[in-house]
Amino acid sequence: PTVTYHHDSGEPDVVDVDAGTSLMHAAVRHGVRGIVGECGGQAMCATCHVYVREPWLGVLPDVGEDEDEMLDCTTAPRDDDRSRLSCQLLAGPDLDGVEVDVPASQV
Ligand code: FES
Repeated sequence: PTVTYHHDSGEPDVVDVDAGTSLMHAAVRHGVRGIVGECGGQAMCATCHVYVREPWLGVLPDVGEDEDEMLDCTTAPRDDDRSRLSCQLLAGPDLDGVEVDVPASQV
């Protein structure tokens, strides 16, 4: 599946991701700017915050309890509809072509 990471300025990063890989790990592995993933994907750091674009909002898994708490600690403001931790989103057929906006800063 492909994932597109949009940035405030400049070209988006379009990355080919193996199914089952988190959008955080894929970004870190491909050197996508603005996604840090400090905790390694445990939903404990909030430095992998992204804003998911339509039409993929409707097919996302529910926000977990830990994720929900961490989303209150993001550096960029939380958007109740679009904010997710990218370590909690796995690439796969449902999310093929998913596009996300990367916040200007994670720390
Ligand atoms: Fe730490 Fe996602 S990598 S919360």
